Amino acid sequence: MGNLLILSTAFLCLCLFVALLYVLYKYWWVPHRVQFIMNSQGIRGPPYEFIHGNNKEALQMQKEASSKPMALTHDIFPRVMPYDYSCIKKYGKNYLSWNGVRAQLVITDPELVKEVLKNSEKAFSKPKPLYFFKKLLGDTIPTINSEKWARHRKLANHAFHGESLKIVKQREEKVMTGEVDSFGHDFLGLLVNAYHDPDEKNRLSIQDVVDWQDKARAEVVEVFGNQNPNSEGITKLKTITMIINETLRLYPPINSVVRKAVRDVQLGNLVLPNCLDLNIRFIALHHDPALWGDDVHLFKPERFAEGIAKATNNNAVAFMPFGMGHRSCVGMSFSITETKIALSMILQRYTFTLSPTYVHAPLPNLSLKPQHGLHLLFHSLD
Ligand SMILES: *[C@@H]1O[C@H](CO)[C@@H](O)[C@H](O)[C@H]1NC(C)=O
Ligand SMILES: *[C@@H]1O[C@H](CO)[C@@H](O)[C@H](O)[C@H]1NC(C)=O
Repeated sequence: MGNLLILSTAFLCLCLFVALLYVLYKYWWVPHRVQFIMNSQGIRGPPYEFIHGNNKEALQMQKEASSKPMALTHDIFPRVMPYDYSCIKKYGKNYLSWNGVRAQLVITDPELVKEVLKNSEKAFSKPKPLYFFKKLLGDTIPTINSEKWARHRKLANHAFHGESLKIVKQREEKVMTGEVDSFGHDFLGLLVNAYHDPDEKNRLSIQDVVDWQDKARAEVVEVFGNQNPNSEGITKLKTITMIINETLRLYPPINSVVRKAVRDVQLGNLVLPNCLDLNIRFIALHHDPALWGDDVHLFKPERFAEGIAKATNNNAVAFMPFGMGHRSCVGMSFSITETKIALSMILQRYTFTLSPTYVHAPLPNLSLKPQHGLHLLFHSLD
């Protein structure tokens, strides 16, 4: 009897010991090994933290970024993906990060991106969609609670009316005279800051947007008159296609594609272990001044005037709003046609401007969305 007790205790201890070894192997040894392999090839990144990887820090930054609106510029990468943005600044265009225990090589270098997407050695596969994908994502997206939001809305309304204009004026004067060095960090302050973005070249120009709306309307009237859009006419809409492409460049609905190395594989001059996920953050490419020029954050549909090859300088990976290649997104032509029809019908009937209650807050939530809606004011044309 006593022997049996000793035996079963010993067996239990052995099981615990094996379990412990397994945990250490999976959550400590493997990540550190991958980290070592990548570091020794010059790929750096935020250090692996036991079990949660970099998720805590990434989540924290995302939460903070989405708790306040941003200035009215198209420079959205820092708000939409604050953690990635800070990592790229710190570690370079390609870096190793940790989605929990999963190693992720984030790549934004056009040459490497090209190689992965070309996949000439069939070494990269699309990972299986996670069963809990939607749920997980829903849980990780930080929400700004509704009470706080109601307060923001009130402030935004307030900011554009009566009494508060005086306050704005006072703040402007104080800044001009050097009494204080910013317009303030409350919501009203942020709005005033937006219109005074010191980086003039990034400032959103309402005039540009109005001009493009007029051009688009002229095109719609020329193609359709006041008839409903038809499929033949849709293919003739050139200005609208340029506007849509420029919008997709600045605000790509999906900000990355993930591939998985199915075996040890060579990429550029890197040798990748087979457990690695490759995360192509193409929002970074869409906002890369090296690919688009110093005016990268400006809304300039004329970039696409002579087609996509000219706009991207024949660099296909500079513009991938639907991923790359024909297999990329089956919904592409449908969604573009849908957008063209809706836009045409609106342009035939209304002019529209941003509502004063609109706050600029793009947020990745499965796809990129305006966090607090897209408030527009429509004026009937008749
Ligand atoms: C994300 O999208 C879902 C569904 O569209 C919505 O219910 C949720 O409020 C959104 N989250 C945020 C933070 O906006
Ligand atoms: C707009 O982008 C699509 C791909 O998303 C491309 O097929 C089309 O040729 C582009 N049009 C222009 C005018 O750049």
